[in-house]
Amino acid sequence: MPQSYAYLRGEIIPLEEAKIGVMTHAFNYGTAVFEGIRGNWNDEHQTTYLFRLREHMERLVQSAKILNMEVRDSVDRLCEVAIELVERSAFTEDVYLRPMVYLSGEVLGVRLHNVETDNLIFLSPFPAYLPEVARCHTSTWRRVQDTGIPPRAKVTGIYVNSALAKTEANLNGFDEAIMLNENGHVSEGSGENIFMVRKGKLITPTPADNVLEGITAASVVQLASDLGIETVEREIDRSELYIADEVFMTGTAAHLTPVVEIDRRTVGNGKPGPITSRLSELFYDCIVGKNEKYAAWCTPARLRVTS
Ligand SMILES: Cc1ncc(COP(=O)(O)O)c(C=O)c1O
Repeated sequence: MPQSYAYLRGEIIPLEEAKIGVMTHAFNYGTAVFEGIRGNWNDEHQTTYLFRLREHMERLVQSAKILNMEVRDSVDRLCEVAIELVERSAFTEDVYLRPMVYLSGEVLGVRLHNVETDNLIFLSPFPAYLPEVARCHTSTWRRVQDTGIPPRAKVTGIYVNSALAKTEANLNGFDEAIMLNENGHVSEGSGENIFMVRKGKLITPTPADNVLEGITAASVVQLASDLGIETVEREIDRSELYIADEVFMTGTAAHLTPVVEIDRRTVGNGKPGPITSRLSELFYDCIVGKNEKYAAWCTPARLRVTS
């Protein structure tokens, strides 16, 4: 039987025993940084493939650095623990790992210094996050910017910004929000990077447009390049998305999701376009360890057969 385990205070314990106190600094002030990592189940191999595990743990450490937080464990150790958790938990479906570095001290006072830190990892089964194709709207909420809380760091507190946008989108009948930055340019989805296709090229906002520098996005750019498709990073206007040939979103939760409608305008012919479809096919093969060329992106965690 699958059973979720968590890593907390340096120990692997059953998830239901992994608890933190009400005075925990991170709970009170949003002073934590985190990651989301997909474990993609391959039934034929009886293996879960952790997608770009190391890159996620490295980004976790970078996020912590931006917040001036110490990370107790090395990237190597965090990767080892992640594999151990997936193997012990023994799910035979896709899972989502949540590593976090957080201010664990039970003290009052808004600051980042002189508060104890810990890091934790837990995991949970995680089905599809967005529908197969997404209908989006432009959010009335602007993306937080580097001068406020840097979106390049995956800070838990920032996700209030994402949650406002996501809830507004869902309550208005859309699948996902597209957020503009304070300059009025397209930034990203509430939990995804965004790409458009115009004249056969991929175009995506720059890191300076207040995006999280996505690991899925970087992987898709690599796949596109290997297929001979160029990617340009530049500012994008909202109205440019309306006339794009194709639009799609990328993210650990969303994988690669075609966007077929924005602000009630049909994108292209309302179906996933040819470039999106080619990339998507290749991407889904890669993440379940089916494509040898990209095997280095997938860390295997093998199902332990217990009798
Ligand atoms: C705000 C935001 N942008 C983009 C992404 C996509 O990043 P990645 O592909 O590294 O998961 C995420 C998800 O982690 C996110 O939360």
